[in-house]
Amino acid sequence: MQIVDLEEQPAGIREQAARMLVDEFVEPRGWPAIEKAREEVVAVIRDGFARAAVEDDLVLGWIGGLPEYHGRVWELHPLVVRSDRRRRGIGRALVASFEQEAARRGALTATLGTDDDSAMTSLAHTRLYDDLPRHITGLRDLGRSHPFLFYRKLGYVVTGVMPDANGRGKPDIYMSKALGEE
Ligand SMILES: CC(C)(COP(=O)(O)OP(=O)(O)OC[C@H]1O[C@@H](n2cnc3c(N)ncnc32)[C@H](O)[C@@H]1OP(=O)(O)O)[C@@H](O)C(=O)NCCC(=O)NCCS
Repeated sequence: MQIVDLEEQPAGIREQAARMLVDEFVEPRGWPAIEKAREEVVAVIRDGFARAAVEDDLVLGWIGGLPEYHGRVWELHPLVVRSDRRRRGIGRALVASFEQEAARRGALTATLGTDDDSAMTSLAHTRLYDDLPRHITGLRDLGRSHPFLFYRKLGYVVTGVMPDANGRGKPDIYMSKALGEE
């Protein structure tokens, strides 16, 4: 496996990357149609950068980075690994590549939003406004392995939520990590 700059890859590789946004997300949900997914690939490459894990001509996964706050913060978006290649370290390698490139471009903070649009965590269908710090502290996976567990393994910390981001009771979970600290 190699990690390459998606921008420099032939159209067929970029098309596979777009297709993965439609096919490889189940929970949380992915992109509804290939046209929207193609637009996403173009936008991420235009506004930030994208890296793909490839094996010969097959895309195993890819990750994007987008600048915020004048480039002091970079958002990890999107990230996807082929379902038949998960749990083998590819996601971890892609995140490491994202963090390295974001830091090179001046990021102090890596951030991301990981949606809970299908009641996978204790934050779903909960009155978050009542006592938000308590809900964040008590964040639990309800048994279907929400990706926040993956990001937590990689050192990301929950830094907030957006209530009802995906509809009533379906929040986005914000996670961040400091880059370049000693
Ligand atoms: C989330 C995703 C990118 C993880 O990719 P991956 O290649 O399977 O991850 P890795 O194998 O590098 O996992 C790194 C560690 O996290 C753990 N991990 C990975 N996914 C996990 C999950 N869903 N729940 C709990 N732990 C998980 C792995 O077991 C591994 O732990 P270890 O280092 O102790 O062995 C992948 O499952 C995916 O593409 N999911 C669908 C799209 C998606 O949800 N993207 C994120 C949206 S915000």
